[in-house]
Amino acid sequence: NTKTYTLNNGTVIPAVGLGTWQASEEGAAYNAVKVALQNNYRHIDTAAIYGNEEEVGKGIKDSGVPREEIFVTTKLWNADHRDPASALDASLAKLGLDYVDLYLIHWPVSWKAGTNDNETDWDYVDTYKELQKLVGSGKVKAIGVSNFTKKKLERLLADPEVTVKPAVNQIEAHPLLPQPELYDYLKKNDILLESYSPLGSTDAPLLKNATVQEIAKKNGVEPAALLISWAVQRDAVVLPKSVTDARVIANLKTFTIPDEDFDALNHLAEKVGTTRPNTFSEFIVADEEELASPSYN
Ligand code: A2P
Repeated sequence: NTKTYTLNNGTVIPAVGLGTWQASEEGAAYNAVKVALQNNYRHIDTAAIYGNEEEVGKGIKDSGVPREEIFVTTKLWNADHRDPASALDASLAKLGLDYVDLYLIHWPVSWKAGTNDNETDWDYVDTYKELQKLVGSGKVKAIGVSNFTKKKLERLLADPEVTVKPAVNQIEAHPLLPQPELYDYLKKNDILLESYSPLGSTDAPLLKNATVQEIAKKNGVEPAALLISWAVQRDAVVLPKSVTDARVIANLKTFTIPDEDFDALNHLAEKVGTTRPNTFSEFIVADEEELASPSYN
């Protein structure tokens, strides 16, 4: 797949990228990144908290692919919200890069340094304003957010000091968590949706879903290829994670899902129920009212 999107700041981003969360065994991220780039991936997604930025950077370097051809994303961790400039420098040093293509607020929650306790006088809007200052430093091409609900984005965009629109919102999204309201909101606001956990995250539970298996079989593809293609077909970035060479290579290959099957996947969650989104994880205790939606349980 060589599909790309143009972000709202003009930067071009490849639709399929390699996810690296839980690529934590020694050497795994290094190998996956190198294999991916040597097999035509041009988009790598990591984060400070994944603990693999050094390996990702080495993989990029040893792949032989020129830096300017690669789209690299990393993310600001919760405990570093007051000083994104320093956190970014630390990430760049580990990656061995002069810049990242995209820098994201990993979660809309700010922790007191060295703890998991929420800050009371600092939040993600304050953090975002710090991120804005990095634009033009040459160290980031674009900035964005991750795990933001519609409500949080609305609050962010309503702030008069927020002058640079987030380029993306990276969220968990797959046929059992299509997030239709957020999906529409992002489209309307020209914020690109990036889907993580397209296979359902750890151990890829969606590959075992009966409907997914049936549609995949009908089209002569693997369930993983179907799920990755679904994300691309709804005009999202998709970030499948794998540390297995053959899977990394296979996951870049997408196909056009026939309308009726695409439709069936779009409505799957309505029939069998959604999974609980990460967005409502324990990190986001402050916004429990957002759990009120009856479809999430
Ligand atoms: P592994 O990394 O051991 O290859 P997600 O992208 O939704 O987070 O899913 C990641 C999980 O899916 C990992 O357990 C990964 O295993 C597995 N996985 C990734 N690609 C494939 C594939 N093509 N077929 C089967 N399992 C896959």
